[in-house]
Amino acid sequence: MSKSGALDLAFGVGGRMDKKEVKSAVEQYENYHGYFGGDEETRKANYNDMVNKYYDLVTSFYEYGWGESFHFAPRWKGESLKESIKRHEHFIALQLGLKRGMKVLDVVCGIGGPLREIARFSFASITGLCNSEYQITRGKELNQQAGLSESCNMVEGDFMKMPFPDNTFDAIYAIEATCHAPDVLGCYKEIYRALKPGQCFAAYEWCLTDHFDPTNESHQKTRALIELGDGLPDIRTTNECLEAVRLAGFEVVWAKDFALDSPVPWYLPLDPRRLSMTSFRLTAVGRVITKSIVKTLEFVRLAPAGTGRVSSVLDKAAEGLVEGGRKEIFTPNYFFLARKPL
Ligand SMILES: C[S@@+](CC[C@H](N)C(=O)[O-])C[C@H]1O[C@@H](n2cnc3c(N)ncnc32)[C@H](O)[C@@H]1O
Repeated sequence: MSKSGALDLAFGVGGRMDKKEVKSAVEQYENYHGYFGGDEETRKANYNDMVNKYYDLVTSFYEYGWGESFHFAPRWKGESLKESIKRHEHFIALQLGLKRGMKVLDVVCGIGGPLREIARFSFASITGLCNSEYQITRGKELNQQAGLSESCNMVEGDFMKMPFPDNTFDAIYAIEATCHAPDVLGCYKEIYRALKPGQCFAAYEWCLTDHFDPTNESHQKTRALIELGDGLPDIRTTNECLEAVRLAGFEVVWAKDFALDSPVPWYLPLDPRRLSMTSFRLTAVGRVITKSIVKTLEFVRLAPAGTGRVSSVLDKAAEGLVEGGRKEIFTPNYFFLARKPL
């Protein structure tokens, strides 16, 4: 059953952690980040703790506002947000030539929105990897409800040391997930190891674009907001990302930033200047309403102490992402298709 009500949101905050720990967890999470004086080295050294805290705190907000797929998409005029998200998932399946009988890995699956859609679209057998116990439990529930437990499997694990033998999968994809890696080359090498020779890996990456200027203070502030709001140890440029794909041993088939010519900007759902009835909860007004509901639920103790603060972290995410998109210094839609040589 969909968990998209305000009470589901409130009960889900903190994931599997003791609800009394939510307030201190959000404080610890914030302190990892540059915006609160934290540094990149500490975030990278403690990436599992940092990312797990983040997703335990925010997953129910994501499901409430975004649905089962936790990613952006380029969008055509006249297309709804949901339609664009599905089309983006179908695109990656088509690029990989997924079909019945193929053994595919989703690095990493979250609660499995893309995994279920791609399994329905392609009839492939998909394993989702994820390091969040809470998301895996929720994802398995949703697989079962969708009648997809046979073709969709979920495994708990870290993408820096994946629990799979060498040369296991016929295809691997990653949708807005490997951005959490403390070392993207190490992560791509793991993907390379688990992929069969001659087969392909496709991804949508979060990247800084060529317009990002490291000496520009306002660019650096936007970057820090995105890192804080989205659980990132750092953000690499598109060039660094592609270089890491090659260094891991892949041949790049093609790559493109789909944010560049998207007729509707990917960040529009979060833009405070926009009003939409179909994705109302993501709009500025929708977020203000969610914030007041959350504050009330926290006040009457139906939501754990610290819930309002989690929602402030997500406001920072929205602010940073919209700024990054408008200034064209950041993209969540950097696509590449790469092949492991025979
Ligand atoms: C933005 S979500 C995207 C999930 C999914 N691809 C989707 O589009 O719905 C990023 C996911 O990365 C997972 N994650 C982050 N670091 C990880 C790691 N080191 N190993 C495995 N999973 C990780 C988080 O738990 C979260 O589920």
